[in-house]
Amino acid sequence: MSHLIAPSLLASDFANLQSECEMINKSDADWYHLDVMDGVFVPNISFGIPIIKYINKHTLKPLDVHLMIVEPERYIKDFKNVGANILTVHIEASKHLHRTLQAIKQEDMKAGVAVNPHTAVELLEPTLEETDLVCMMSVNPGFGGQAFIEGTYRKVEKLKSMIVKAGLDTKIEIDGGVTSANARKLIDCGADVLVAGSFVFKSEDPTKTIAELKKI
Ligand code: DX5
Ligand code: ZN
Repeated sequence: MSHLIAPSLLASDFANLQSECEMINKSDADWYHLDVMDGVFVPNISFGIPIIKYINKHTLKPLDVHLMIVEPERYIKDFKNVGANILTVHIEASKHLHRTLQAIKQEDMKAGVAVNPHTAVELLEPTLEETDLVCMMSVNPGFGGQAFIEGTYRKVEKLKSMIVKAGLDTKIEIDGGVTSANARKLIDCGADVLVAGSFVFKSEDPTKTIAELKKI
């Protein structure tokens, strides 16, 4: 499978979400990456369920929803109802991760687990079978436009070998500071999905930038 590109709408123009969605629809992007922040788990507040409901009216591709919130298990049905296809919770925010992953799958969504830069990938092992996607944070979550943390490559390689050894099909997604300068190396280390916010939306021609990342 060739790698997937998931532009993060966090860096888009929130006053023109419809046209941003139409741009993504027509582009080579594979998914929409939607960052939900609660001001508690991370020191920032972004958008939530009602906004995603309206984004969903204009999207033609899967919605990859990244929850940076405490007690994410409380809102699984709500995100399903507004169109989430992949629902990712942070391992650091989930007291009963196994149960939460099962609940996400019960709602017919793909289940993702996000890990902060300080979190060891070995902690993912007990629930790897239930995990469709690991969102590997390559910046500290909460803000777009931060510099990529170099230690991520090592973590991706380690996780990839855990997945291969277990004979699983869990996808690895990289989130934070992704550019055309680190994309190739990330894919070579085992990444399947690249999230890109600022690199896409702050570029002169976002459609072209998405195509560039897809071709890498
Ligand atoms: C950060 C978010 C990311 C963010 C990435 O907390 O999870 O998805 O939008 O943005 P860039 O690509 O600008 O680092
Ligand atoms: Zn994200």
